[in-house]
Amino acid sequence: MEVKLAKSAGFCFGVKRAMEKVHEQIENERGKKIYTYGPIIHNEEVVKELAGKGVEVINSMEELHSKEKGILIIRSHGVAKEVSEKMKEAGFTIVDATCPFVKRIHNTVEKESTEGKRIVIVGNPGHPEVEGIKGWCGKDVVIVETIEEAEHFSESVDKKLCIVSQTTFNYNKFKDIVEIFEKKGYDINVVNTICNATQERQTEAKEIASIADAMIVIGGTHSSNSKKLYEICKEECENTHFIQTLDDLYLELPKSVRLVGITAGASTPNNIIEEVQNYVRLNF
Ligand code: F3S
Repeated sequence: MEVKLAKSAGFCFGVKRAMEKVHEQIENERGKKIYTYGPIIHNEEVVKELAGKGVEVINSMEELHSKEKGILIIRSHGVAKEVSEKMKEAGFTIVDATCPFVKRIHNTVEKESTEGKRIVIVGNPGHPEVEGIKGWCGKDVVIVETIEEAEHFSESVDKKLCIVSQTTFNYNKFKDIVEIFEKKGYDINVVNTICNATQERQTEAKEIASIADAMIVIGGTHSSNSKKLYEICKEECENTHFIQTLDDLYLELPKSVRLVGITAGASTPNNIIEEVQNYVRLNF
């Protein structure tokens, strides 16, 4: 029997990089206080494990002021310009783990704002990444999440627009929203800032599931991208299992099984993936 692990399973490039930065700080800055601004990833186990190594999560600037000075890590979502400046003013040593793809959006909107453009961010206004991007724009910025919002946009066409997107936004929806703005006659600079890590993970999962006899998707029960992966795989392979850790896996495989596929959501750490993979390899 063959086990096929998706290459894109688990952390994307930006999250991997952020996790590495946290571990570097733990290794190299012993004795210092280490904080992350928000949980570094949406995985309770990982956050707990890091807490055991002295890494504390800070959730707001107010909370920060009550803390002993130390190293403050900005996670891959990034933060608003004002927030990063205030962090420095508060006397913390900043380790910026903003994903370079997100940082590129910050640079774009900052430049385009300075040139006098109105910025349109296509994304979820409540998402920290979008809040961060907004904080690199000037005052003239709008967030558009739905087709309806784009249709209702009625500001004057005199001002040029720059449209960017949240990195995890759906590409087709982004295209539809841009089209609405174009039809309204705006002069637009469209910068497609969607990151294809999520798309790649989904495409690969689908490919593997379509040829696998059984498929295992590892991810948090609250992780929407993991649930999506499960749905995609289930459509291709009836025998698809959704688990958080190896403890949840009750796999019974008939002798005829030739290929078991494994993939994992964006916040699943490598050690869990490895554990599941080794278990399947050794037990079937
Ligand atoms: Fe990950 Fe960065 Fe893309 S955090 S999803 S690689 S934008």
